[in-house]
Amino acid sequence: MSNLVSFISLQFLFVPLVYSFGASHVCRSFCGNITIDYPFTLQSGCGHSGYRDLLFCINDVLMFHISSGSYRVLDIDYAYRSMTLHDPHLSTCDSIVLGGKGNGFVVEPWRAPYLNPSPDNVFMLLGCSARSPLFQGFPTRTHVPCRNVSGMGCEEFYSCQGLMDLGLNHMGLSYGSGPPICCALPYDSIKSVNLSKLECQGYSSAYTLAPLRLSGPSEWTYGIRVKYDVESSHDSFCKACEATLGSCGHDVRGFEQLCMCGSWNSTSNCDSSIKLQVAGAMSAPDKLQGYYNSFVI
Ligand SMILES: *[C@@H]1O[C@H](CO)[C@@H](O)[C@H](O)[C@H]1NC(C)=O
Ligand SMILES: *[C@@H]1O[C@H](CO)[C@@H](O)[C@H](O)[C@H]1NC(C)=O
Ligand SMILES: *[C@@H]1O[C@H](CO)[C@@H](O)[C@H](O)[C@H]1NC(C)=O
Ligand SMILES: *[C@@H]1O[C@H](CO)[C@@H](O)[C@H](O)[C@H]1NC(C)=O
Repeated sequence: MSNLVSFISLQFLFVPLVYSFGASHVCRSFCGNITIDYPFTLQSGCGHSGYRDLLFCINDVLMFHISSGSYRVLDIDYAYRSMTLHDPHLSTCDSIVLGGKGNGFVVEPWRAPYLNPSPDNVFMLLGCSARSPLFQGFPTRTHVPCRNVSGMGCEEFYSCQGLMDLGLNHMGLSYGSGPPICCALPYDSIKSVNLSKLECQGYSSAYTLAPLRLSGPSEWTYGIRVKYDVESSHDSFCKACEATLGSCGHDVRGFEQLCMCGSWNSTSNCDSSIKLQVAGAMSAPDKLQGYYNSFVI
């Protein structure tokens, strides 16, 4: 009798624990030293559907892929819901890359509600043609969208060694004889940085993390700072799912959200009786419920 009681207690103690850990970690992973967690994923069916087919881990290097191209992910900041991207053809103060090689930043329309460069991020478009849509109001300047963003702009970028090396540092200072060499703007004013559509030769992108006044463009942080967002309904769905030790995912066809509970998927959470279960076999939670009932009653 005492053996039977201890057998039941052991089952009761261990089975739910083993089962739960299996389900809560199915979607979390690493790439190099970067943690991949909701809403992101490296696996089909995990994470939020707006971020599907976005991240790829290649030899421990995390890559971000959108319609304008591939970028290396330098970090993901889950607390501030942002990530930093690197494009090898992005110009910096020391190194100007022309010839239209850079990616710019263009997201698929269906992803646009989820991913946008941060409002603190400045894009500096370099060597754009006078016919560029940027200068449609040229030379009156009334419609030119170029401006400083978070204290960063072209006036300061012109002092960069890279531009001096190319002999371009003074050409942009006036609108007198042609378009400026550099046009700085926030992403929001153009909604897509497509170098060929804007007829630009190159671009730079920089951002500030602290509300600290930086002395000059050689101290700016170069890269693309992207904010990501999740609908609040999805947020609360995922919190409830994780609270019951599930993993947040989505249906790979219809894209509706799912809570993955190990051997079954729920449309709410892993405590729920609504189960999307393959007909026939009894699921682990049903068996556990069975144990529980026979023990208590
Ligand atoms: C990840 O590793 C890189 C070097 O490989 C390092 O520069 C970076 O600071 C590390 N990031 C974190 C969050 O540890
Ligand atoms: C649960 O959903 C995921 C993602 O859609 C899918 O890969 C998996 O096969 C489903 N599991 C079951 C038991 O239906
Ligand atoms: C950029 O613009 C060009 C010309 O309008 C277009 O052909 C191309 O598809 C655009 N690129 C992206 C990534 O949207
Ligand atoms: C940007 O800032 C610089 C220096 O802070 C200033 O001289 C310049 O007029 C500003 N440019 C625009 C377009 O506001």
